[in-house]
Amino acid sequence: MVVWITGASSGLGLHTARALARAGHTVIAGARSFTPGRGEDGIHRLTLDVTSDESAEAFAEAALALSPRVDALVQCAGILMLGSCEETTVAEYRRILETDFLGMVRMNSLVLPHMRRQGGGRIVMFSSINGLLGIPFQSAYTAAKHAVEGYAECLGMEVHRHGVQVCLVEPGDHRSGSDAYRFHSAAMGEGSPYAADYADTIAVIAHDEHSGSDPDVLGERVASLLKRRKMPGRLRVASLDQKLAVWLHDLLPTRLNHAVLRGYYLNPKKAAAYRAQEKSGS
Ligand SMILES: NC(=O)c1ccc[n+]([C@@H]2O[C@H](COP(=O)([O-])OP(=O)(O)OC[C@H]3O[C@@H](n4cnc5c(N)ncnc54)[C@H](OP(=O)(O)O)[C@@H]3O)[C@@H](O)[C@H]2O)c1
Repeated sequence: MVVWITGASSGLGLHTARALARAGHTVIAGARSFTPGRGEDGIHRLTLDVTSDESAEAFAEAALALSPRVDALVQCAGILMLGSCEETTVAEYRRILETDFLGMVRMNSLVLPHMRRQGGGRIVMFSSINGLLGIPFQSAYTAAKHAVEGYAECLGMEVHRHGVQVCLVEPGDHRSGSDAYRFHSAAMGEGSPYAADYADTIAVIAHDEHSGSDPDVLGERVASLLKRRKMPGRLRVASLDQKLAVWLHDLLPTRLNHAVLRGYYLNPKKAAAYRAQEKSGS
């Protein structure tokens, strides 16, 4: 198969691209930081900024010159903004939505005419557990991933007749993401009325990410997804407690669910313990 993959310079995108190449696919990977060329791992790398029409079109043209078909598009490009709902600016929300949601929309619109002409194809979009539930101080990312979830459902139904399959990958915390793609809203300094809760939540989020699941396992699971005759509509790759959080979110009344999540994230004692752990390097 010829597989295009976005956001493949770091984190889960990089691990997935490597797993796809090991599985024998022709992998054409895009990221802003790539210098065009073929690596020792066999992956073709091309420059791609998913927020730009020109860049996405140039990527597609160069990819089609390398190989004239596109059997699968795997969309991993994503960035994260941390901040309070009150203080995160519209421009900051827009930045996250431009990459995490509209970037995927743009790439899908580019590949779909080719996939329809070929008589089929596969689209895999990286959502998140945050596409299913909200946590404090991640509203921009959560909104973008919820948009991806809703959009993918509409897309899957529309393209079914054209032989195109759509799958959402919903990772829980993985110890792969780079801090370079985790931004803090400019307002989140000591003057913020949310400063203490914010600091505690960040400590819990950082701890959970650093002790998260193995990114290679996720990469292999996405590679085996492409081997299946029919892909599932969703692939959730998360720890048992994160899967449990989703089940509870769907089962519990909202107020009770929020109380559970507040207790988990806005937890000064736990945050202090994690901060101490990090300081001592254990
Ligand atoms: N890591 C986790 O625990 C986790 C959990 C749930 C979901 N996810 C999702 O999995 C995906 C990968 O996340 P990650 O944390 O593993 O990776 P990451 O280390 O944060 O890497 C982000 C990737 O996105 C690319 N990117 C950012 N802006 C881009 C743009 N405008 N155009 C093209 N590429 C762009 C970056 O490459 P350049 O800077 O070179 O462009 C980089 O390769 C994301 O969609 C994320 O939401 C991750």
